[in-house]
Amino acid sequence: MARDVWFETVAIAQQRAKKRLPKSSYSALVAASEKGLTVSDNVEAFGELGFAPHVVGALEKRDLSTTVMGQEISLPVIISPTGVQAVDPDGEVAVARAAAARGTAMGLSSFASKPIEDVIAANPKLFFQVYWSGGRDVIAARVERARQAGAVGLIVTTDWSFSHGRDWGSPKIPEQMNLRTMLRMSPEVITRPGWLWRFGKTLRPPDLRVPNLAPRGEAGPPFFAAYGEWMTTPPPTWADIAWLRELWGGPFMLKGVMRIDDAKRAVDAGVSAISVSNHGGNNLDGTPASIRALPAVADAVGDQVEVLLDGGIRRGSDVVKALALGARAVMIGRAYLWGLAAAGQPGVENVLDIMHGGINSALMGLGRASVHDLNRDDVLVPDGFTRELGANAAGA
Ligand SMILES: Cc1cc2nc3c(=O)[nH]c(=O)nc-3n(C[C@H](O)[C@H](O)[C@H](O)COP(=O)(O)O)c2cc1C
Repeated sequence: MARDVWFETVAIAQQRAKKRLPKSSYSALVAASEKGLTVSDNVEAFGELGFAPHVVGALEKRDLSTTVMGQEISLPVIISPTGVQAVDPDGEVAVARAAAARGTAMGLSSFASKPIEDVIAANPKLFFQVYWSGGRDVIAARVERARQAGAVGLIVTTDWSFSHGRDWGSPKIPEQMNLRTMLRMSPEVITRPGWLWRFGKTLRPPDLRVPNLAPRGEAGPPFFAAYGEWMTTPPPTWADIAWLRELWGGPFMLKGVMRIDDAKRAVDAGVSAISVSNHGGNNLDGTPASIRALPAVADAVGDQVEVLLDGGIRRGSDVVKALALGARAVMIGRAYLWGLAAAGQPGVENVLDIMHGGINSALMGLGRASVHDLNRDDVLVPDGFTRELGANAAGA
């Protein structure tokens, strides 16, 4: 990548994203909820964990490769599904190309802006993510489309409680992005020439439709109609999760598990993986950082299903801490969104390179030959750091 667009940390990618994006697009990526307690804890908790490095005996070569839900990946970091709207004209296709170029897998949100068929053409290691929206028949049709398209796994996200309100104000997301909206937004758009130029080159404004919620070949409903369908669908039961798992039949992740009792129920429902996650601090504010909940959940079900973690990963050393505390791999959200906003596909590659380099250095410092050798002796966990959610509930 050209030196002038290359960045050395995710924090710098975030600064670039802030400069490049219109204010409302940037704040849609910052997201979070209420007071922002959880989003901050997700990031800051990693800073409370220390390392116990060796001084001599580092190995010459280190192996970062692993598998997630049957897919071989070159580093233990995959792309978490996000509804990437209006950040980059190539959106999820650019992210998929970057992930493929760096040898890793991708979760595609059902609120994504690009059709799943186009995204899989760029990266066949693709897991399709669904929300419980529209009820069993509607979900079955969407999942069938994903299967036909070649998705190699399903991610089901159920940790969403439709809470609104942020102390710093929410972005105004327009009903649709047409010329009139662009003109209305003009003060914030005109001050962002880079972003305007990127979309200007495509001769079409950002698409605020969700094509993967409609049959193949259709444009899909506008974002708000899709959100309305989701809000008015009765939430799923554990029987619904077991039904969907059965229907899908292949690798299946339940994303958003924070409690031991829920993790055990997910195992009973037949899932193959869970992600310990609080939706990046976008859901119920006051939920602890996902890294605090990881050790207890990994102890409870780590020998039965793959346990991943997402939330707050900004460096390769964060990945190593999560692996040492029991995760098989992590998923990243904002980190790659900042990269995408900063520099498109090369920006996402840059973020994955930062993760790769940081994991490699941490393994070297810890004297570990492989990501599979990491264990709890490698990290210093201060007293009171971990949280055991749902440990005393009936059935836990
Ligand atoms: C802007 C934004 C949109 C998101 N959209 C989705 C989504 O559509 N589906 C989903 O399962 N998770 C979604 N998430 C949550 C991410 O998949 C992931 O759990 C979270 O971003 C991880 O935290 P991090 O951003 O600190 O890495 C979204 C997160 C952000 C920031």
